[in-house]
Amino acid sequence: MEGRVSVIQPLRRVLADVYGELAPDRTILGTTVLPAKHLRFGGKEFKNDDFFLASAQSEAQRLVRRCGLSKASVVLDVGCGVGRLPIGILDQVGDIRVYRGVDVHSKSIRWCKLHIEGSHPSFQFRLIDVKNRCYNPDGSPLSDSFRLPFDDSSFDIIYLYSVFSHMMPDDVSVYLGEFSRLLRPEGKVFLTAFLEEGVPDAVENPPDYRMKWNGPLHCVRFNLSFFTGLVRDAGLRLSEFEYGQETDGQSAIYLSRTAVVGPTQP
Ligand SMILES: C[S@@+](CC[C@H](N)C(=O)[O-])C[C@H]1O[C@@H](n2cnc3c(N)ncnc32)[C@H](O)[C@@H]1O
Repeated sequence: MEGRVSVIQPLRRVLADVYGELAPDRTILGTTVLPAKHLRFGGKEFKNDDFFLASAQSEAQRLVRRCGLSKASVVLDVGCGVGRLPIGILDQVGDIRVYRGVDVHSKSIRWCKLHIEGSHPSFQFRLIDVKNRCYNPDGSPLSDSFRLPFDDSSFDIIYLYSVFSHMMPDDVSVYLGEFSRLLRPEGKVFLTAFLEEGVPDAVENPPDYRMKWNGPLHCVRFNLSFFTGLVRDAGLRLSEFEYGQETDGQSAIYLSRTAVVGPTQP
């Protein structure tokens, strides 16, 4: 029986890869091009076209209402996947001054370049070669000297939906340090993560927590105080926290810089 299981799983993966290469990579809903279902991340609900588009639109609206997103904004989307946020921004706001999406997953970046960047040149996507045991197992491990390929103080909004939910704390710290470098003085970071009180600092695939987690980094759950400490150490400040309302029970967090950089007092 065990032998059969060990053959079936790799076989399933090969068949999924073959299907992924042969099947159409997009679907059209109204006038909007969406990634084909098999390319989308997230739970089963994201396989529904209407749900996927509505979630993209509401993420864009969230940034409008809570982070001041406008046509003049400069936005960084870390772990952009197959472009859910930029699809929503284009639908709700239109072309904006600068949008940059980065991800470690080459197929997703390929899709975004082909279907978004091609027709919206201010929206650009870049593959970064960072190891993630789930999404890019052969990438380079992050070190403290890692830099995202952008200038200091260049972004109004940095956005990560369901990305720290798949990263261990050492990597999260390096990224938070980078956000502190990249964020403009009045800028905001929005992110989601699994955050709880009264639990160990960080646990990968915690048993008996919300659902059954399978495979590397499927769920990384943080202790809220520990996570807030990482934020503080990076020179950022937790400005708003909304518990458990996001995908699979993640919480929403808004960060700003600890101190607004400005002219020094005499
Ligand atoms: C659950 S998906 C979310 C995708 C997208 N943010 C969304 O909400 O539709 C997680 C994404 O994070 C990306 N990711 C994982 N580790 C990363 C890292 N270290 N840097 C950038 N992206 C990463 C994955 O490749 C994947 O695209």
